[in-house]
Amino acid sequence: MSIKHSNFFMTKSFKTFLKHTAKDFHNQSVNPPVVRASTIIFKSMQHIRKTQAKAKKNPTGGHYDYGRQGTSTSHILQKILTKLEESYHVFTTPTGFGSVFLAIFSVVRPGDEMIVADPVYSPTRVLTQDYLKEFKIKTVFYNPHDLKTLENNITKKTKLIFVENPGSNSFEFQDLGKIISIAKKNKIYTAIDNTWATPYYFKPIKLGFDMSIVSATKYYSGHSDVMGGSLAVNKKVFNKVRAAERITGLRLGPDDAYLITRGLRTLDVRLDRHRENAKKVAGFLSKNKKFKLLYPYKKDSFNFRMWKKYYSGASGLMGLKIKAKNVNSIRKFVNSLKLFGYGYSWGGFESLALHQEFSETGNRKYLNLAKDEHLVRLHIGLEDPNDLIADIKQALRHLK
Ligand SMILES: Cc1ncc(COP(=O)(O)O)c(C=O)c1O
Repeated sequence: MSIKHSNFFMTKSFKTFLKHTAKDFHNQSVNPPVVRASTIIFKSMQHIRKTQAKAKKNPTGGHYDYGRQGTSTSHILQKILTKLEESYHVFTTPTGFGSVFLAIFSVVRPGDEMIVADPVYSPTRVLTQDYLKEFKIKTVFYNPHDLKTLENNITKKTKLIFVENPGSNSFEFQDLGKIISIAKKNKIYTAIDNTWATPYYFKPIKLGFDMSIVSATKYYSGHSDVMGGSLAVNKKVFNKVRAAERITGLRLGPDDAYLITRGLRTLDVRLDRHRENAKKVAGFLSKNKKFKLLYPYKKDSFNFRMWKKYYSGASGLMGLKIKAKNVNSIRKFVNSLKLFGYGYSWGGFESLALHQEFSETGNRKYLNLAKDEHLVRLHIGLEDPNDLIADIKQALRHLK
């Protein structure tokens, strides 16, 4: 087969592109090699200097003089993700949270302020509210459904608006276009955690975000056996993120890069199935009066309208807001699920369930959860959705 690698980066359909891109075009094998390297050997000193000059001229071009900058294995993953994100470049980090840190560290300095969505992933909350405070960086949290709380908190010192959509565990969908226009008007950088949808269903850089984070641990790898993160950027912030990446050493290793590249081949197939399965389960759950379904399903809701406005699909993660006087009945409901594992993370092939404790939702300002209200998170996996519905049905009898 003599098709050149570059031809695949021009393929129109992303579904086709994903199946063909990561081949080893040199050795003709269907998979690329895993290139592990700390030291990279050059033919001569002139060769080193020539490579360094090329890297300076073309910093996204895959020229390396040391393993910490990556190898061809991470470069191929970055190229695929850059096409998927329709961004200027994608940096890859050892965890998704590493990408959250890198985005913030790239543009925020002591004395600056940040405005962060109230329902962010709780470690993001701890980082911004507690740790960055020690570095004289002030964080204010805004209500995802009242953007006046964002606009009214902008000061001359505001450097970054950090969004997560939908909200972690509470699944609020926000008016992302409005956030972008507020940020642009005030010349503030924007970052979004887009792990729930991935750029397969929503492309933040195209909408106008400067930075977009995905935990590759979830749907990208898809098999619950690898950790990683990606940070897509536009041209405006590229140099800042590149400098921060170099100085923090936040780089994904080649073995994990390979596994994520492998997972990406079936990203479209898996996400389409997660979406279909979740839609079926949501249809069943939405009829039950014992709880409120937290998923873009009911057409008359603000969350649905905001999802429909910006997203082309929905993933498999959803929530239930359950009113129960006795928390034990919720624990019993979750514990009676037989096909759902109890564990952290999501985005793998399997279904998971979690009863959210305070530590998972964090100390939020706008959650409005009454004392007798509880959150349960479900990840709808790739099993037969009829089996999942039957399993939920039998467990629901414990919900009093
Ligand atoms: C929305 C979101 N962002 C970021 C992360 C962090 O990703 P990782 O676990 O790969 O560090 C998670 C992890 O659960 C998450 O749910």
